[in-house]
Amino acid sequence: STMAAPSTEIFHATATAPVNIAVIKYWGKASTKLNTPTNSSLSVTLSQDDLRTITTASCSPSFESDALWLNGAAHDVSNARSQACFAELRALRKAKEDKDQSLPPLSTYKLHLISENNFPTAAGLASSAAGFAAFVRAIADLYELDESPTELSRIARQGSGSACRSLFGGFVAWEKGSRNDGYDSVAVQVAPESHWPTIRAAILVISDAKKGVSSTSGMQATVATSTLFPNRANTVVPARMDAMKKAIAEKDFESFADLTMADSNSFHAVCLDTIPPIFYMNDASRAAIRVVEEINRCAGKKVAAYTFDAGPNAVIYYDESNQDIVLGALRKGTADVPGWTEKQPHITACLPEGFNEAVLAPLSGNVSRVILTGVGSGPLKVPKQQALIDEQGNPRP
Ligand code: DP6
Repeated sequence: STMAAPSTEIFHATATAPVNIAVIKYWGKASTKLNTPTNSSLSVTLSQDDLRTITTASCSPSFESDALWLNGAAHDVSNARSQACFAELRALRKAKEDKDQSLPPLSTYKLHLISENNFPTAAGLASSAAGFAAFVRAIADLYELDESPTELSRIARQGSGSACRSLFGGFVAWEKGSRNDGYDSVAVQVAPESHWPTIRAAILVISDAKKGVSSTSGMQATVATSTLFPNRANTVVPARMDAMKKAIAEKDFESFADLTMADSNSFHAVCLDTIPPIFYMNDASRAAIRVVEEINRCAGKKVAAYTFDAGPNAVIYYDESNQDIVLGALRKGTADVPGWTEKQPHITACLPEGFNEAVLAPLSGNVSRVILTGVGSGPLKVPKQQALIDEQGNPRP
């Protein structure tokens, strides 16, 4: 045909974003509309070598609707959370285009987002945090936005609260803010990964037969019914936030561990205090707690710290200097599940002097894999050649 074809140019940018695991938990919404929290929270960003989402954000005048694919499967983007993120990012791009008429009008084009996780999405490993962080970071890069990670965290927060903390590497606080419009409910970096690079995490993936209560509905039930909850949100957590920032500044692992374990237990206590009660930990999760307590007792100091999110998996933080005692005991308890030999072939199962072996029994057989990782960086840009799209703007096979 000699007729001029409509422009089918595809604009795209690709970014990766990390998973984060909180040591002071977000649990409770002040506003469900703004997705603001009842209390501040603090997390460690985990290495993207082991856990990350990669997202290509693309737009074109030829695209007919906004669309998202995750690991090859189409996902709905009509939900309010995705729509809020799209609207805010488009508004920022529109403001840029209004200032500079020479820019292509990307804000008027439909978006195709193509995402892949390098870990099993269903394993309950904070995939929504990495997912929405990569979503926001990739579109911001596509739109060439100048907004800082903190400003972008305000947008990611509306996708999923914990996602706002995945805009940074290292140690990250989500400050709850005090404004009615949620404007100051954003993430800030407490310390970069280079400040305390020896922080490691062993994740015990614990099989879960039935799918538990989602965090979104669970936390709303807790806010509505738990009488322990106001004390946690208003008194316990604010003091812990200050103490945790100090522990991180001083690289004081023992305080970091005490606060991490106490806050995980406080979060699961308000879940139990919810009507009807919510259980995220199971027998194997509680066995992991006993194993860590036993490691610490034998070491004569806190060398490991457990924490659990809205599921049974145990995340165990430790400092590299104590790797042998912590991993030796965990390996003894989990035997030859996948994950050990690939990452730590030289770690052999071994228990410290006086270790009560009985605590290991309920763990063995209930861990399906171990993920050995550590503190890591924030979102990264990916070269254009590695984009996940084909010529038509669909997922590359
Ligand atoms: C237990 O961020 O998944 O992992 O804002 O409703 O999407 P929504 O909740 P979400 O909740 C995470 C809760 C947690 C604790 C934490 O990550 O701080």
